[in-house]
Amino acid sequence: MHSLLAFLPGSFFPTRCARLPWTCPGRASSGKAAKRRWFARQISDPFVRQAKEEGYRCRSAFKLLQMDSQFGLLRPGLRVVDCGAAPGSWSQVVVQRVNALGVQARPQGVVIGLDLSPIDALPGAIFLDHCDIHNAETQKRVQHFLPGNIADVILSDMAPNASGIRQLDQSNMMLLCYTVLALAESTLQPGGSFLCKLWNGADAGTLRRHVETLFKDVRQVKPLASRSESAEIYFVAREYCGQNKVI
Ligand SMILES: C[S@@+](CC[C@H](N)C(=O)[O-])C[C@H]1O[C@@H](n2cnc3c(N)ncnc32)[C@H](O)[C@@H]1O
Repeated sequence: MHSLLAFLPGSFFPTRCARLPWTCPGRASSGKAAKRRWFARQISDPFVRQAKEEGYRCRSAFKLLQMDSQFGLLRPGLRVVDCGAAPGSWSQVVVQRVNALGVQARPQGVVIGLDLSPIDALPGAIFLDHCDIHNAETQKRVQHFLPGNIADVILSDMAPNASGIRQLDQSNMMLLCYTVLALAESTLQPGGSFLCKLWNGADAGTLRRHVETLFKDVRQVKPLASRSESAEIYFVAREYCGQNKVI
């Protein structure tokens, strides 16, 4: 397999986060068929090609671009936390949209990305890698890097490693969602926004009702760049009603 990979052109691997299915422990569909499906999907996916052309680390960038165009979450000067940031394509989008490099004559924003995995450096972003959202220290580390210890937007594209056991994976996903929501409750500026990936399932409604108690406006979104066969959806929540100190 590795010798075949060596002969494929670089443009075949435009993204760093397209997970190789046969490398996922516990994944039931490993084997030749899974490899064939993965290669076929990569070749035919327009977002994979576009990510390569536009210099994004991952096709996921287009999910955030589409949701931001629809809901206007990001603008120059905002402080944004990107949870599950590796390999960094969402952070690339955020750095541009909040003017984190200060290249536009507009307010300069701040981008903090965190992930369990290492993340290649990105000018304009502060990355906390080997950082688990479930760890009690994470909230303090994130707040430490935020001016005023407060964020305007919290994003989560986190997903647990698939175990192959559906109910376990779904519970782990929900745990990630509730943990990032707790980070939002302690860190978001009143009026701030929250965007969180989840897998659509029976417990999505319970999570949504909880998010609705904290934000004035909550929408469920499936961006065009999200594969139709994927159960992933996003909650976009705006106008946080919490009481964190306004800085
Ligand atoms: C789909 S990827 C994110 C892709 C990213 N939005 C991008 O565009 O480059 C999901 C990420 O969530 C991270 N993740 C999963 N569980 C986590 C946890 N407990 N704490 C922090 N990150 C986690 C994974 O390591 C993985 O890198």
